Amino acid sequence: MSEGLSTRVIHHGESFAGDTGTVMPPIFPTSTFAHGNAGGFDYTRSGNPNFRILDSVLASVEGCAHATVFASGVSAITAVVSQLKQGDLVLCEENLYGCTVRLFEQVFAKFGLKTAWVDFTQPAALEQIQAQTPAMVWLESPTNPLLKVIDLEAVCAITQPLGIPVVVDNTFATALVQRPLDLGATLSLTSTTKYINGHSDALGGAVCTNDHEWHQKMVFSQKALGLQPSPFDCWLITRGIKTLPLRLKQQMANAAALADQLADHAKVNWVRYPHRSDHPQHQVATRQMRAGGAIVTVSFNACQEQTYALCKQLRWFTMAESLGGIESLICHPATMTHAAVSAEVKAKLGIDDGLVRFSVGCEDLADLQADLEQALELLA
Ligand SMILES: Cc1ncc(COP(=O)(O)O)c(C=O)c1O
Repeated sequence: MSEGLSTRVIHHGESFAGDTGTVMPPIFPTSTFAHGNAGGFDYTRSGNPNFRILDSVLASVEGCAHATVFASGVSAITAVVSQLKQGDLVLCEENLYGCTVRLFEQVFAKFGLKTAWVDFTQPAALEQIQAQTPAMVWLESPTNPLLKVIDLEAVCAITQPLGIPVVVDNTFATALVQRPLDLGATLSLTSTTKYINGHSDALGGAVCTNDHEWHQKMVFSQKALGLQPSPFDCWLITRGIKTLPLRLKQQMANAAALADQLADHAKVNWVRYPHRSDHPQHQVATRQMRAGGAIVTVSFNACQEQTYALCKQLRWFTMAESLGGIESLICHPATMTHAAVSAEVKAKLGIDDGLVRFSVGCEDLADLQADLEQALELLA
């Protein structure tokens, strides 16, 4: 019988430590390797023992054949998109992470790549795949910051017979909660900066796949485009992932409780949490996600100033733009991640001035609850 996930995140991956007996793998801060070595390494842009250790743990967690690590989530996205060519059409979920949108619209569009933005929670999106037969479908589920949940299996049932590769950005869920490849996706992409590392002290990205050709393409992009991570960041992320199951368990329990607390407040319009029964795609979420994750998005019945003041009033939730670390964070998209987005697009996506996104950490639940309670008094 194969080992459990908590065992694999701690023990998986060769240490390359020779006969030293070291329990933790060393860091290999070298740019180059002597020709003809047993590991087959030549130059760190195209491979390093620390990359290989992390590749191996990530593939094991994702339950797939191959993982390729990159310098950041955006590097991983760049690696995938760089495999497309002029004139190709990518059908994208309309609520993708902002930097993914920026890459498509401000960088790859210059090279003739076309994108169409679709609401993948609507059945019409499936018809659009059949009508437009794009070169690729790009999804994120749950999405940022609205936590829309897309039925990945339903999308892949349409794309697979047509031979259309599907990319799922799995950063919010992680492979512990959701396995896109098992649901039919070609590539599962993650910003390892977030939950995988979990300590907000390194940047990284990864692409997981069972498709040998796509794996070759990812290895090529890593080296040809210079998208490789640093050995030190890989070492940090390898250390971080060892506690992923423990961290996520606490974070998800805290998030579910805070979602319920917020939903009961008079000044809350709605709460989005995938495993709450009032989530718009609750049925899909409970089918494809083993748990609800650790992000909670809330719409307050408050203006921009009041919402901003509430965010600032919190003691244990730092107002900051990342997510997935052990420390709780809060983000006000209207003035932070989506500040540059036009009012029209924000309105279309449903991002209003009272919207906030909580990345719930590992702190004691009672402290987080008390903190929320005192800050909510500002809206009384
Ligand atoms: C869903 C999602 N994908 C990709 C990224 C990009 O990751 P990175 O910041 O590691 O480049 C982020 C970053 O916030 C994200 O939230």
